[in-house]
Amino acid sequence: MACCLSRLVVLTTLLAVIIPSFPCLVLAFTTAQCEFPAIFNFGDSNSDTGGLSAAFGQAPPPNGETYFHAPAGRYSDGRLVIDFIAGSFGLPYLSAYLDSVGTNFTGGANFATAGSTIRPQNTTLSQSGYSPISLNVQFYEFNDFHQRSQVARRKGVVWQELMPKEDVFSRALYTFDIGQNDLTAGYFLNMSTDQVKAYVPDLMNQFSTIIKNIYWQGGRSFWIHNTGPVGCLPYVLDRLLITAAQVDRAGCATPFNEVAQYFNQRLKEVVAQLRKDLPLAAITYVDVYSVKYSLISQASKHGFVLPLVSCCGHGGKYNFNRHMGCGSKITRDGKQILVGKSCKDPSVRIIWDGVHYTEAANKWIYDRIVDGSYSDPPIPLKMACHRFAN
Ligand SMILES: *[C@@H]1O[C@H](CO)[C@@H](O)[C@H](O)[C@H]1NC(C)=O
Ligand SMILES: *[C@@H]1O[C@H](CO)[C@@H](O)[C@H](O)[C@H]1NC(C)=O
Ligand SMILES: *[C@@H]1O[C@H](CO)[C@@H](O)[C@H](O)[C@H]1NC(C)=O
Repeated sequence: MACCLSRLVVLTTLLAVIIPSFPCLVLAFTTAQCEFPAIFNFGDSNSDTGGLSAAFGQAPPPNGETYFHAPAGRYSDGRLVIDFIAGSFGLPYLSAYLDSVGTNFTGGANFATAGSTIRPQNTTLSQSGYSPISLNVQFYEFNDFHQRSQVARRKGVVWQELMPKEDVFSRALYTFDIGQNDLTAGYFLNMSTDQVKAYVPDLMNQFSTIIKNIYWQGGRSFWIHNTGPVGCLPYVLDRLLITAAQVDRAGCATPFNEVAQYFNQRLKEVVAQLRKDLPLAAITYVDVYSVKYSLISQASKHGFVLPLVSCCGHGGKYNFNRHMGCGSKITRDGKQILVGKSCKDPSVRIIWDGVHYTEAANKWIYDRIVDGSYSDPPIPLKMACHRFAN
């Protein structure tokens, strides 16, 4: 798959013109690997490494138990795909921009928060569960960070060691994983699939505007995840009504997965348009949907069990109760008892808490996308700074 590059022309090298029948060879030997000095991430809980926790209270234990051995701002037992991406470049795991105390941002910053949407919602976090830090707010934060980090650097040594240099902003990798919550937001307001589809163009416009704004601030390398099969997740299966005919062989709800795929098709078109509009940008679209769906639908083949059941949760068909989530406690005889408990072995489970993936699943997903097999253009993560014509 990674070698199906015949329709790509490597702009950065003349050799591609000389031996067009060996584009893979050319890519492997003449295009330098990218050295990203930093990552700036935008998104929702799929890539939140502490944003929501910093502003609205820490994710409770047993989140973080597998890798960090304590809560670490992530809705998972361990690391997220973005952590494996950062690690692959030798960068520290990203700190949330909102982690204002003692944070070293030289390797980048994370603007994602759990519950974030592309479009601002008209409800509060406590009303609906959606974060007020929507993608436009994440961009305001990034803009502020860009300006103020440079002002801080001029103040002296300590700040120079904690803030990125100006040139880092054009050399960094900009990563995105957002959209899932925009889709569920409509359904949770009892909208029909047609009503949800009807606002997808608005999502695309707003998403596209943010990519352009970052480009105008110097951003050049963009790595964009599409949205996953939300119809396979317990929090959707448990809450939204579907008929038996709407359940596929994997046990997932087809209407919600179809709307996710509709969103992804539009996103792919937007990315193609952005490549035309932003002549110096290298934009990679990554089909995370297919990776996650194949993991869930062929779990045992990949070494996992109970693909639709939460590891951490409390009761029901999916071990998921939205009023008693992972980490929740009850008081009995004056004592606090943890009822949202982890399963025994999260390393063989896919779904962590009914909404998010386990570290084992995240690692599996990362391993599939890192080599470019699911990317358009089909280039590996380490080449994501190179622009290809098609
Ligand atoms: C919020 O309300 C405004 C004004 O009515 C509307 O334009 C916007 O689409 C709404 N946003 C969402 C996510 O429903
Ligand atoms: C900040 O992180 C960078 C890269 O990880 C490191 O080189 C630098 O020493 C750190 N600065 C401080 C003050 O710890
Ligand atoms: C959606 O419909 C359900 C069932 O009829 C109802 O209980 C719920 O209040 C509705 N939600 C909204 C946001 O209208």
